[in-house]
Amino acid sequence: MLKVQNLHKAFGGVKAVNHCSFTVEKGSITGMIGPNGAGKTTMFDLITGLMEPDEGHIIIKGKNVTSHPAHKRAKMGIARTFQAIRIFSEMKTLDNIVVALKDHPEKMYQAFLPLKKKQKKIEERAMELLKDVGIADKAHLNAAELSFGQQKLLEIARAVATGADLLLLDEPAAGINLTLLNQIRDYILKLNKEGKTFLIVEHNMPFIMGISEKIIVLDYGQEIAVGTPEKIQNSDRVIEAYLGKKKE
Ligand SMILES: Nc1ncnc2c1ncn2[C@@H]1O[C@H](COP(=O)(O)OP(=O)(O)OP(=O)(O)O)[C@@H](O)[C@H]1O
Ligand SMILES: [Mg+2]
Repeated sequence: MLKVQNLHKAFGGVKAVNHCSFTVEKGSITGMIGPNGAGKTTMFDLITGLMEPDEGHIIIKGKNVTSHPAHKRAKMGIARTFQAIRIFSEMKTLDNIVVALKDHPEKMYQAFLPLKKKQKKIEERAMELLKDVGIADKAHLNAAELSFGQQKLLEIARAVATGADLLLLDEPAAGINLTLLNQIRDYILKLNKEGKTFLIVEHNMPFIMGISEKIIVLDYGQEIAVGTPEKIQNSDRVIEAYLGKKKE
């Protein structure tokens, strides 16, 4: 689904992503962890095309997209959420989804429906998505009135609304209470069962270890370990990256 090859991005002297390579298998939930500043968000920016790498390649569904602009990659079925939530807060919750659905290529056939009917169908679909994430009762509130956790759910639902089958989530669990956390986990698992592939950056270890089949660990922009959650939790290299080097 996704291949990152020898990817490199420096900001002045800081090698945010340092000749990094990994793959995300189709249908998987892959976790990405690493200390603060390890390059996780930069990696997402490079994969989605918000930033250009200095070196290396990004292959999505077998296609080299390294020089493709973000909107072209989005059309290939890739969507993301942001570490700092980016929703349209002055818009109704429902409309946050509607705008994502409007661009959805699968909905092209609706161009032939009368406008009113088309709008109704889109709103019904948006409502379904809000139901899926458990915030349908908030549909007609401004998104700004949602709790932080509900806004995160809305952002995930909006990524799903684009029809993407590769979803990149940047810290979906950060600052979320336990009830909403379980709601987010269940939603991710449901979508994964339906065939969607996930790459998830997360600092919440129980959450990411519980949900991922494979974990990639970044440290100073490099992948220092890749493996099952069990393998990663027992890796000296990973423990060292988080806690500092052990004294000899
Ligand atoms: N636009 C930028 N300009 C300059 N330096 C940047 C920029 N974006 C990121 N960096 C630097 O690149 C490094 C990687 O940052 P990045 O945000 O990718 O880390 P992260 O793993 O997402 O961290 P966190 O877990 O805190 O979110 C850091 O040293 C950061 O300061
Ligand atoms: Mg980050």
